[in-house]
Amino acid sequence: MSTIRLIEEKDKEEWINLFSGPDGYLVFYKSTLPNNVIETTFNRFLDKDEPVNAAVAIDDSTGKIIGFANYVTHRNTWAIGDSLYLNDLFVSGESRLKGIGRKLIEFIYTEADRLKCEKTYWQTQFENHRAQLLYTKVGEKAGFLTYKRPSE
Ligand code: ACO
Repeated sequence: MSTIRLIEEKDKEEWINLFSGPDGYLVFYKSTLPNNVIETTFNRFLDKDEPVNAAVAIDDSTGKIIGFANYVTHRNTWAIGDSLYLNDLFVSGESRLKGIGRKLIEFIYTEADRLKCEKTYWQTQFENHRAQLLYTKVGEKAGFLTYKRPSE
């Protein structure tokens, strides 16, 4: 069994390990980030004045963090209420296919309601079929492509 809750200060080491450690989220994306970015992101989770937050999934039997959902709220020119952007979703390799990803997204929907967000959305890579098996069940395809400014 697992419990989903908002992130707390005591979660720092485990969240950082799951985000950027050897079997973590950044490795999944074949990416790295400087330590000061990771530290700043974590500190923003705890800062009530920042629109950045995270939920963590805890394994009830070990008390360890086995997943997270990092999210950001922002204004939207098409609505009075904010939008919630699910920036990062991750469940540790050995804890997958047990419904934890679904529970994290459902928690995010509850957060969106609490924060009066009128839209909740996220993006994923075309080739991430595993994530899409979950997303087609808990969400609907928005039908937009994402573009970005070219890298220097
Ligand atoms: N065959 C059949 N169905 C599958 C399969 C499969 N291989 N894989 C997943 N599913 C279905 C399951 O039936 C399940 O549906 P159900 O809830 O109706 O039973 C659902 O998809 C899987 O749901 P969960 O078990 O809740 O998902 P999980 O805990 O495994 O987490 C996640 C999914 C987060 C994508 C995980 O695999 C992961 O962390 N992957 C690596 C990182 C990643 O891809 N993150 C998402 C990037 S996009 C973003 O961050 C916004």
